[in-house]
Amino acid sequence: MLSSIQKVSCTINPQRLAPLGVAARSFISTWSNVPMGPPDAILGVTEAFKADKDPKKMNLGVGAYRDDNAKPYVLSSVRKAEKIISDGLLDKEYLGILGLPTFTNLAAQLAYGTELDAFQEKRIAVAQSISGTGALRIGGTFLKRFYPHSKTIYIPTPTWGNHKAIFNDSGLEVSQYRYYDKNTIGLDINGMLEDLKNIPEKSIVLLHACAHNPTGVDPTKEQWNQISDVIKERGHFCLFDMAYQGFASGNTDADAHALRKFVSEGHNVALCQSFAKNMGLYGERAGTFSVICNDTEERSKVESQLKILIRPMYSNPPLTGARIVSTVLENPDLKQEWLGEVKMMADRIIDMRVSLKKHLLEDYGSKKNWNHITDQIGMFCYTGLTPEQVSRLTKEFHVYLTKDGRISMAGITTKNVKHLAYAIHEITK
Ligand code: LMR
Repeated sequence: MLSSIQKVSCTINPQRLAPLGVAARSFISTWSNVPMGPPDAILGVTEAFKADKDPKKMNLGVGAYRDDNAKPYVLSSVRKAEKIISDGLLDKEYLGILGLPTFTNLAAQLAYGTELDAFQEKRIAVAQSISGTGALRIGGTFLKRFYPHSKTIYIPTPTWGNHKAIFNDSGLEVSQYRYYDKNTIGLDINGMLEDLKNIPEKSIVLLHACAHNPTGVDPTKEQWNQISDVIKERGHFCLFDMAYQGFASGNTDADAHALRKFVSEGHNVALCQSFAKNMGLYGERAGTFSVICNDTEERSKVESQLKILIRPMYSNPPLTGARIVSTVLENPDLKQEWLGEVKMMADRIIDMRVSLKKHLLEDYGSKKNWNHITDQIGMFCYTGLTPEQVSRLTKEFHVYLTKDGRISMAGITTKNVKHLAYAIHEITK
């Protein structure tokens, strides 16, 4: 039987509608009920920045490294790897569902190190992912399907703007634990420990491995010990998000401290890893999702389910980024050069922190405490600016940043740092 809507549309004669043009098209539109969505909280800032024609404009929104001319930076080790790949005249066949094996193996080695039993005993199930976001999405769906004790993931307050949406879309419930104390502009370690103690046993807890996004506030080694003890006591499962390995300290091993410590202490963990920032492969979408298993048989079972989960989503991952990463990591000279470039990027950011604080205090005589600019680490500085102040920065000074007051330090250069200090001073004095 025809529904009333179908009956109506059957009576429309297209020849009679033709002269009515647009009005006729909207009358029969299928999508008129689709509401306008808001711009993305982070990527929407880039769109607004691009539309601004002022020469002083600065994009401190998206976390993407820029050189001292505020230009995107392609690493020299990456350029050399691309040359090796193109000279090799390789084919463009599909990868397997879990990706390029040399890539997944070397990526796991970079994250976990070679010392851990789990690595040596080949107990780590690894799937290549569409960068960190894709890894989180695979992880969310895997946990929803197979984690037996809970369907709720606890994320820090605040956290990366996309975490909640990723986990919700994966079918998990999302709750929060305390992380940042806006009064001290530092870690709320007591609140965090208390929350981790009070949530149900065997909950899923998301931890930023290093260079916490957006706050730039990481636990100290001593605080990681305390966090590890509580998580162990309560039997929680840890999902590590490591999007900035190397960006916190300039050293990829030092930045993997928390992850490796947790694995060596027998924690139940999974990891989402990205090469967007530390290899500058933003648009290549190279990353991994991995799970520590009990033995190789369990690893095979987990991998079989990861394949089943990935195949209907995107079949198999992209080739080029994985080839670049594995070429850099498997060639000792290129790897050495890359590690130097990671340190160079991290150091440039640290220099910009020092310079921004110096201009605020010495050139503009700001009486505020700006110690957090140099205390925080990684790509971001969580300034503590209010949404109103952020809006003034953008409208009056053409400085683009996210509403939560996060600035991407990587967008600051020796040429624009003074303008930023002036603008921040003007809106905070
Ligand atoms: C960011 O936080 O700015 C980056 O991780 C880029 C993104 O996709 O949000």
